[in-house]
Amino acid sequence: MGTNLNHIGVLTSGGDAPGMNAAIRAVVRACTHYGIKVSGIQEGYQGLIDGNMDEMDARSVAHIINRGGTILQSARCLQFREKKGREKAHDNLKANDIDALIIIGGDGSFTGANLFSQEFDIPVVGIPGTIDNDIYGTDFTLGYDTALNTVVEAIDKIRDTATSHNRLFFIECMGRDAGFIALNAGIAGGATEILIPEDNKTLDDVVNKLEYSRSAKKTSNIVLVAEGDQLGDTFKLAEETQKKLPDHDIRVSVLGHIQRGGNPTCADRVLGSRLGVAAVEQLLHGHSGIMVGLRNDTVTTETLHDAITKKPGINRNLMHVADIVSL
Ligand code: F6P
Repeated sequence: MGTNLNHIGVLTSGGDAPGMNAAIRAVVRACTHYGIKVSGIQEGYQGLIDGNMDEMDARSVAHIINRGGTILQSARCLQFREKKGREKAHDNLKANDIDALIIIGGDGSFTGANLFSQEFDIPVVGIPGTIDNDIYGTDFTLGYDTALNTVVEAIDKIRDTATSHNRLFFIECMGRDAGFIALNAGIAGGATEILIPEDNKTLDDVVNKLEYSRSAKKTSNIVLVAEGDQLGDTFKLAEETQKKLPDHDIRVSVLGHIQRGGNPTCADRVLGSRLGVAAVEQLLHGHSGIMVGLRNDTVTTETLHDAITKKPGINRNLMHVADIVSL
């Protein structure tokens, strides 16, 4: 291919996501396939700053495609946000003869990657990895499908007890800035109401829906709340609702970090494999400052700049469907 790259470094950064291991494995094996050296950098940008990196080969990524988390470990690194930290990282890259980087992470990680590639003229390619699916330029991010299935399974379990006791549950799922998980898992889990940051439902909307639901003889209700929803803290929201609906038996369940763990689904393993190979091939073609993604089942690229500055839109049709099927 078009460049003379000899040595690629790969790291995972930000919140871990199931499927990151599949991507690491694909990067390492693609490098083996094309005859270039590859090193795994530990703990994201922190490992770059500390010089914590080791050469990998096809066998060092055996038996990881099925595992959640990331064998390289991850971190949100404050030092890398400063020029001094990035200079140190660059020195370590040079000392280890690494001449290109693959960053697996979310928008915060890509912001650092974009800056770094501009400051030091180091080719960088990103692979979108976050359960939130909130990266522009790809239909799916690594970990999203697995997290969706985890959330749906949790809702199903909560529904069993909710129905047995005629209860109303507020369930909080992840999604600091985006409602992709809540909207899709809410439809799949049969939620009565779904609250997401991209929408502006009020407490009265929620109460009206629940009153309607009771009049329609529903025996249990689930309100799925994305943690970043504008109505704020889920416990407070439940309290406010209780005041307006005193005869409802209300409970709150915050799903938390179980949403980030677990064996990746088939979709996340295949996605990680496709994007890992694509990232290496993009570097070999001499491309930099881009992210590889998947659109309409085709591997595509997007500039890191657009990936971090543009917002992927929520599917309004899904919101319409959610309103209808929750009656
Ligand atoms: O990875 C993104 C995310 O899952 C958000 O939805 C959530 O708010 C955040 O991670 C939690 O991060 P941490 O593990 O640092 O608490």
